[in-house]
Amino acid sequence: MADNKKMSVAEILAAARAGGGKSGAAPKPAPVAAPEAEGDAGSEPAAPVAAAAKPAAAKPAPKGDGSRPSVADILALARAKKGEGEAAPAAKPAAAKPVAAEKPAAKPSAKPAAAVAKGGPKTGVQRDTASILAAARAGAKPGPVSKADAPARPAPKPKPAVEKAAEPVRAAPPMPVKPAKPAAKKADDEDRRGFLQIALGSFMAMGFTALSVTGGLFTLGLARYLFPNVLAEPPSRFKVGFKDGFPSGKVETKFVAQYGVWVVNGEFSGQQQIYALKTVCTHLGCTPSWLEAEQKFKCPCHGSGFYKDGINFEGPAPRPLERYAIRTADDGQLEVDKSRAFQEELGQWADPDSFVTV
Ligand code: FES
Repeated sequence: MADNKKMSVAEILAAARAGGGKSGAAPKPAPVAAPEAEGDAGSEPAAPVAAAAKPAAAKPAPKGDGSRPSVADILALARAKKGEGEAAPAAKPAAAKPVAAEKPAAKPSAKPAAAVAKGGPKTGVQRDTASILAAARAGAKPGPVSKADAPARPAPKPKPAVEKAAEPVRAAPPMPVKPAKPAAKKADDEDRRGFLQIALGSFMAMGFTALSVTGGLFTLGLARYLFPNVLAEPPSRFKVGFKDGFPSGKVETKFVAQYGVWVVNGEFSGQQQIYALKTVCTHLGCTPSWLEAEQKFKCPCHGSGFYKDGINFEGPAPRPLERYAIRTADDGQLEVDKSRAFQEELGQWADPDSFVTV
């Protein structure tokens, strides 16, 4: 059969033509089928060839009726002729085997994936995991394995330093240098910050100071309200000096501001006396003024006038001025006592405590 396959079409046609001359003797298909059957016993793939030969043998061969044979008939005839001449070598299993050996060789190309997937018998090309692992342990190349079974890739070897050193070193471009901030600006910022801090501190200090002052004033006002002022009046008794310090007819006015008293050396009821007149107008309490030129006391409020001895003579004043008690103290000085007053209309000026004789 291997020889039959190797026949070219021209050989087949030549054989057919040669056989055509002997058309009277129809070729027997049996001799052809026998070797095929022997081949089939040895291997399964030979079956198609036998099947292909059988139809030719089953078909009735042309009997030389003059009709043109078909291609199948020609092929069957050629094979029959060939079989007759080469019956001995074709019957050898060695000649049929190659066909059987070639057939399985073509199959693995289509079956490996399915066979591996189904866990079926492994072919020579496709190996199972055990064989791959065994080959890997033996150091052989495992062949195609799954990604999961693949061994970890060895870490890439670091490049030798020499290679790096050999590489041309690119000089880094010079970085633009930032201009340094002027120190004056920094100093100005610090000064401004310090000034703001000082100003804020000053404002706070001023606020607290104002609050403290206000609180103090409020406390003082409250204390003053709770404890009213006490008039610091001069003592009721005070010394005005010696008698010779008051000449006759003289009105001393230097004690008016401090003590509210005129010390007069004058004549009253035909007697020269030194007495102390109260500086309060008997009209409504104003303070009259001594008019040296007019020798009288004149009240500026309503015009009341008083003589040097204190007798009222003009204006609305209803009565004379009053006198304070006066005496000669132990040291010889005249001492005025304002705690005691003497009124002329009451006859009190006759009291010796109301004057000092000269
Ligand atoms: Fe002196 Fe009126 S108070 S005249």
